Amino acid sequence: MQQAKSVLNNIVLIGFMGCGKSTISRELQRLLGYPLADMDAIIEQRAEKPITRIFEEDGETAFRDMESALLAELAAADHPPQIIATGGGVVIRPENRQRLQHLGYVVWLCAPPQVILSRTRHSQDRPLLHGENQATRITELLAQREPWYRQCAHLSVDTAGLSSREIASGILESARYFFTGHDQTSC
Ligand code: S3P
Repeated sequence: MQQAKSVLNNIVLIGFMGCGKSTISRELQRLLGYPLADMDAIIEQRAEKPITRIFEEDGETAFRDMESALLAELAAADHPPQIIATGGGVVIRPENRQRLQHLGYVVWLCAPPQVILSRTRHSQDRPLLHGENQATRITELLAQREPWYRQCAHLSVDTAGLSSREIASGILESARYFFTGHDQTSC
């Protein structure tokens, strides 16, 4: 793929927890053959502990600092093109939102709240969704973050009811269009 304007040649997946970023990033990796940078996995590897323990022992701010530092690294490095899977909260900080837009073709994976709830209900590794009232927590966080996802995205894809293969193929087609110099508006 060629490069559009000052945007790096990566495909970047953003979106709320449970919207399929990890699954779709692996499918894109399989179809395109690009290396995969899964930000949560890299942070866990560097911290030598799972995200839940980072939140418990070091606090959310420490996690957000690691996340922002890694994003800056990915944006600065002269890497060959990659698939970048972000964590759901990467859009919280304004400097990250600015970075994302230059990092590559940004795809917002979304899903209705009830689908997110059913996908995350039994998850033990998402500290922000631990405890009671998971549905309310999802609704509140979504309301806060949706404008940020929308602001950063070149494309939005509702992942409910589509196979990973269908979603990944659609993303690739749109990304090719984008990287060959055409403008793409987000939906
Ligand atoms: C978070 C989402 C998680 C992980 C961390 C915080 C969030 O990633 O980065 O638990 O703030 O939404 P996933 O979106 O991959 O679950």
